[in-house]
Amino acid sequence: MPPVTRLGILTGGGDAPGLNAVIRAVVKSAFNSGIECLGIEDSFDGLLEPGRSRVLGPREVTGILRLGGTILGTINRGNPYDLPISTSDGIKPYSERVIEMFHEMGLHALVVIGGDGTLAIAHQFFQAGIPLVGVPKTIDNDIVGTTNCFGFDTAVDFATDAIDRLHTTAEAHHRVMVVEVMGRYAGWIALYAGVAGGADAILIPEIPFDLAIVAERLRERDRLGAKFSIVVVAEGAFPRGGTPSLLDRERHDRVERLGGIGALVCEGLARETGKETRSVVLGHLQRGGTPTSFDRLLATRFGGKAVELVRCGAFGTMVAFAPPDIIARPLKDVVGKTKNVPRDFDLLQTAKSMGVTFGD
Ligand code: F6P
Repeated sequence: MPPVTRLGILTGGGDAPGLNAVIRAVVKSAFNSGIECLGIEDSFDGLLEPGRSRVLGPREVTGILRLGGTILGTINRGNPYDLPISTSDGIKPYSERVIEMFHEMGLHALVVIGGDGTLAIAHQFFQAGIPLVGVPKTIDNDIVGTTNCFGFDTAVDFATDAIDRLHTTAEAHHRVMVVEVMGRYAGWIALYAGVAGGADAILIPEIPFDLAIVAERLRERDRLGAKFSIVVVAEGAFPRGGTPSLLDRERHDRVERLGGIGALVCEGLARETGKETRSVVLGHLQRGGTPTSFDRLLATRFGGKAVELVRCGAFGTMVAFAPPDIIARPLKDVVGKTKNVPRDFDLLQTAKSMGVTFGD
């Protein structure tokens, strides 16, 4: 295969702090290896028509290391393999147009930065002949094959700070404060921020909860003299025998929006304990703002490794963190799966041994 001299880079799915740090590392490393980078706007949409991409060099990425979001834009439209689009040649599959444009733009390879959905799409394009390397991104930290995704540390930091702040009002008013954090299928943010913030109950999708057990733990705290409690709930948590709480079912990308479980837990605990309760949803605040130094470093290492893989032609792979190293994993081994919190995970067990209830 001839050497790559023109590389496309795009970001897909929900934003996560550190995306710009990856872009910066890819652009600078590529530039210093004689590779021109083309920043493609709004995920694969930027490959639907000309004019939605721009050359990125070191000047264009100056100052973006500490910025949240993505300078390239992102979009959750759905899988290009499922979507028809209309072109001057008539209706054709979106994916076909993307492949045509990839060649028309003279690209030799792509770096695709995204979560499970975007990486699964990238894998389909790789199978269709597009040389590409994936970079895992999600604040949920639930991508298989990598110990961490960038964005997770920033989200945990933010949620921990929020829990710290809620402690003061909980304590002053003798209240139960329920904090809903992100975590669609996996409870990593809830577990990490919950333990770091000293929560008394942590409810995660991996462990369907029994509200009566949570309420009993709160009553026990009252009996022991602690008149307040903090409950952290992942948005995807659900009661034993129940289902996750949905905000709506209709979405352009066919992914259901979760939300509302914090309020339900809050109401249920008020009923069961007779205590005053309040709930707070941290929502998208967890995805915004400046990445932590950990996330900047991880994102930078991911970007550097992605260019190395492009240069040696190791396509169809995803960069991954296997401490202390950054390695490559085949995309086929990681897509379509979820990295859940294992029940025997030491942090979970330690939290339990310290009296934190998971409602089980
Ligand atoms: O996957 C990351 C995530 O932040 C989830 O925790 C959350 O359910 C989802 O994205 C929200 O997506 P959107 O911003 O598209 O509603």
